[in-house]
Amino acid sequence: MPANLASIRERARVLLQGICHVCPVCDGRRCPTGVPGMGGIGTGAAFRNNIAALAAYQVNLRVLHDRKDQNLGLRLFGQKLAFPILGAAVAGARVNFQGRLAEAELARAFVQGAAEAGSLACTGDGPVPELIDAGLQAIAGAGGRGIPVIKPREDTEIINLIRRAEAAGAPAVAIDVDAAGLVNMTRAGQLVEPKTVAQIAGLARGTSLPLILKGIMTVADARAAVDGGAAAIVVSNHGGRALDHTPGTAAVLPAIAAAVGEKLIVLADGGVRSGVDVLKMLALGARAVLVGRPLAIAALGGGPAGVKLQLEALADDLAVAMRLTGCGDLGDIGPQVLCGQYLDFVRSKLSTLAK
Ligand SMILES: Cc1cc2nc3c(=O)[nH]c(=O)nc-3n(C[C@H](O)[C@H](O)[C@H](O)COP(=O)(O)O)c2cc1C
Repeated sequence: MPANLASIRERARVLLQGICHVCPVCDGRRCPTGVPGMGGIGTGAAFRNNIAALAAYQVNLRVLHDRKDQNLGLRLFGQKLAFPILGAAVAGARVNFQGRLAEAELARAFVQGAAEAGSLACTGDGPVPELIDAGLQAIAGAGGRGIPVIKPREDTEIINLIRRAEAAGAPAVAIDVDAAGLVNMTRAGQLVEPKTVAQIAGLARGTSLPLILKGIMTVADARAAVDGGAAAIVVSNHGGRALDHTPGTAAVLPAIAAAVGEKLIVLADGGVRSGVDVLKMLALGARAVLVGRPLAIAALGGGPAGVKLQLEALADDLAVAMRLTGCGDLGDIGPQVLCGQYLDFVRSKLSTLAK
């Protein structure tokens, strides 16, 4: 296996020919494929909006302070994490990567690589059992250090899969509620549906594990998640793969965090490519972030070791970003790291949208 990120990415570029160019910065501008593939759905605007929304914020450089040591550690869902960067669910190797990596290998690379880096990864679900099976096996194989993300199937099916997640030792279980319109599920005769607050409440009551709802993009849905008893939400537009023309997640995150951040754990994903991006998401109200495509590339090019290296590179980059913005630990990261004009923008959003 290649030993550094450059060679891992080069290996992935060769493997992913025709699917993904493995661009120097993964920004959705040149993707040769959409869904299925690595890009965004439709025009790809929702993917690009994630990148643009993060880029719209600028940070305050602060170097005259006493925060000389950076501590990136945190506890999440009862687990000790070395840094606030998790692997997002990336599944469907057969359709998205044209089988150039086996589903089980993809899931194992994410889960094992993240666990070895001291973090956690999510795993996915899809129209064939192979996807959820691969994820649950990888989680069990890593001593339970992973979070399965279940499609918004019929409630009885979700409960059956939650039972399997519990048996695999997962510390939490997620539902990607934004997959309610996924055509590859419905075409395969697998029902997916929007969920009512009552349904979420029933699912949350059906397990002792924290229930995470992934794919929350509005204050209204965030409040519904609270009402349904969810333990956490992921502010996410599925990497721009669920609905075309959704805004960037960093644009909607502040209002959502302001509305529900005291009541449940707010996580975020979409376009996180650097330590500064992680810092921005945390300053906007996320407790931790998830990363998708860069880890998928690392998984293809380097397996678990590739995922571990990519996560550690992001964490090292975050430590530098914290040091240069006057942050010693994650609790120090707040709106003060964002430049004034953007802070004003965030504040105005908070006052208008979080009512
Ligand atoms: C190829 C691919 C497959 C994905 N499969 C899933 C999945 O099975 N379940 C899920 O909740 N999200 C899935 N996602 C979305 C990711 O979990 C995550 O929300 C998104 O990739 C984050 O954006 P980023 O790739 O820009 O970091 C997938 C994304 C990609 C690119």
